[in-house]
Amino acid sequence: MTHRIGIVGGDGIGPEVVAEATKVLDATGVGYTPVAFDLGGTRYRRDGEILPAADLEAIRGLDAVLLGAVGIPEVPPGVMERGLLLALRFDLDLYVNVRPFVAPPSSRNSGVDLVVVRENTEGTYAGEGGYLRKGTPHEIATQGSVNTRFGVERCVRFAFELARTRERRHLTLVHKTNVLTFAGDLWQRTFDEVGRSYDDIETAYHHVDAACIYLVQDPGRYDVVVTDNLFGDILTDLGGAVSGGIGRAASANLNPDRTGPSLFEPVHGSAPDIAGSGRADPRAAIISAAMMLEFLGEDEAAARVRDAVAKSEDVVGTTSEIGDAIAERV
Ligand code: IPM
Ligand code: MN
Repeated sequence: MTHRIGIVGGDGIGPEVVAEATKVLDATGVGYTPVAFDLGGTRYRRDGEILPAADLEAIRGLDAVLLGAVGIPEVPPGVMERGLLLALRFDLDLYVNVRPFVAPPSSRNSGVDLVVVRENTEGTYAGEGGYLRKGTPHEIATQGSVNTRFGVERCVRFAFELARTRERRHLTLVHKTNVLTFAGDLWQRTFDEVGRSYDDIETAYHHVDAACIYLVQDPGRYDVVVTDNLFGDILTDLGGAVSGGIGRAASANLNPDRTGPSLFEPVHGSAPDIAGSGRADPRAAIISAAMMLEFLGEDEAAARVRDAVAKSEDVVGTTSEIGDAIAERV
């Protein structure tokens, strides 16, 4: 069977790291048909299109999407992010963003092996809000956080199921229930209620500010973490920083119900400051490709990619040299 994989390089270092990820995919011998999409800031500046309906429809028919990064300095913040990346997350109902952090043996936090399950379609990302009296001294801007019982519950349930597949079987809810007394309360109640069906899973709750301290000082205490969209965004950059660097932080935007394709991408952004310099670490994109292979049922190929990444731990070089080294070992 050959998988139809959408390839969206995007902006900045996105296309560079995705090229290395497809190089590694090729080396696995897994049958796949790449379907390239010209989407991102460059396209937008050329013809004003961000995510044309025809492209979205084509993407819906695929088995998975591999995406590099989105956003360029020439386009105001939010345009590409909301118009392309968030649009894909929402339209394809990619309701969990799974972000694993496994510190390499050489790193200060060797032994850390945690995964953040970030709610991926709601919260402050939902786009609720607006302006009143924009541009006047009395301007008002609101940006609400949307939390539905349905959305929170399916995310929390996914996290409990994931915790069940892991050795420690431990799940921490991270939120800010002491201040966000409406949203936090919904999350806490849902977490407690869902948790009643998982008495084999040990649970904990941390406020997000405290979780930042623990992630830096004692990340080994975490196994699976579940949290809302914005806290998850912030915590996962921190997670990358304490587990060998953001250059190796991978993610899977999943539609666990498989009513459409899931999307796999590095946690990092388009890093325009280093685009074209060969300094981007392609490992995050390559590990994202391994997560994609796993989700597609290609476990053996995924294991070979992960193994090759582990064996190339000490390779230093340009983006493509690192990609070559990993592809050779696959
Ligand atoms: C991420 C990124 C995105 C996010 C941006 C690019 C919209 O930071 O995937 O973590 O905030 O979710
Ligand atoms: Mn982020």
